[in-house]
Amino acid sequence: MEKTTMKNDKALKDQNGLQTIVVREFEPADEPHVQRIFYEGLMEMIPDTAFRGLRHHLESLLLYTAMTVLCFVITMCWWVIGLLPAIVLCGRYFYSRRVIHGYLEHAMNGDMGDIEGFYMKSSDSCLWVAVLEGKVVGVVAAVGQQKSGGAVELKRMSVDWSSRQRGVGAALGRKVLEFAVTHRYSFVVLGTTAYTQAPHQLYQRLGFRCVGVTNGYVTPGANTSFLEQIFYRVRHHHYSLHVQNSKIASKGH
Ligand SMILES: CC(C)(COP(=O)(O)OP(=O)(O)OC[C@H]1O[C@@H](n2cnc3c(N)ncnc32)[C@H](O)[C@@H]1OP(=O)(O)O)[C@@H](O)C(=O)NCCC(=O)NCCS
Repeated sequence: MEKTTMKNDKALKDQNGLQTIVVREFEPADEPHVQRIFYEGLMEMIPDTAFRGLRHHLESLLLYTAMTVLCFVITMCWWVIGLLPAIVLCGRYFYSRRVIHGYLEHAMNGDMGDIEGFYMKSSDSCLWVAVLEGKVVGVVAAVGQQKSGGAVELKRMSVDWSSRQRGVGAALGRKVLEFAVTHRYSFVVLGTTAYTQAPHQLYQRLGFRCVGVTNGYVTPGANTSFLEQIFYRVRHHHYSLHVQNSKIASKGH
């Protein structure tokens, strides 16, 4: 079926019942809005990875402590103990920024630089936008990994800062689940390196279960230099949802 005849807009009542969130398929005029929302969502990952991520990596904390002790033993200067943590935080920020910019470049040279060509030409993939009060405020994409019976990957989930916690992310996520059911995929899978609670809560709320964690995940676009390995370390959570067993399937969408 042609993508244009598959327009499947869905209006959802906001919590206060006054506004509606419309989730519709991407149109070429949406591209700058989609790229901006994607870019801003990615940039949030820089402090998230550099600072919030630190307390999740005992091995990094041990390494930085060992570096501090070693520098102190070599220099016998007490100020090293105060200075080194600041250097470490700057290093983590610098390398997180570098890797995430590399990832952005990787995405812009691929799917996010040609959304129409990458997502909208095949029936196995799609990108949707969420529209609230006439403005594009969110994005999500789905890419079939195999033919029917396999898995579809949920990608590029991002919601404009000003429209968060109003049900936009959940509406976008449900659209991907509906897509999976309609196209007879068995699973929806996704991965995230976020340390903030919001994406993890959102996916769990949608019914996803964490099925694995890769510690020291190599982000696409990273160059894995020695310093990058010291200052950039992330965990990649893998989530999966069996759609045919999920509530959305039993509702008969
Ligand atoms: C993650 C994100 C898409 C959520 O979008 P959203 O529109 O705010 O989400 P919703 O309003 O639909 O909330 C759905 C559920 O997510 C959870 N959630 C959303 N924001 C949350 C927050 N700040 N803290 C904790 N849980 C949160 C809640 O469980 C919520 O359900 P509830 O309100 O019924 O309890 C948004 O925060 C975002 O774009 N973040 C930056 C980009 C990103 O991290 N993308 C994911 C990469 S994999």
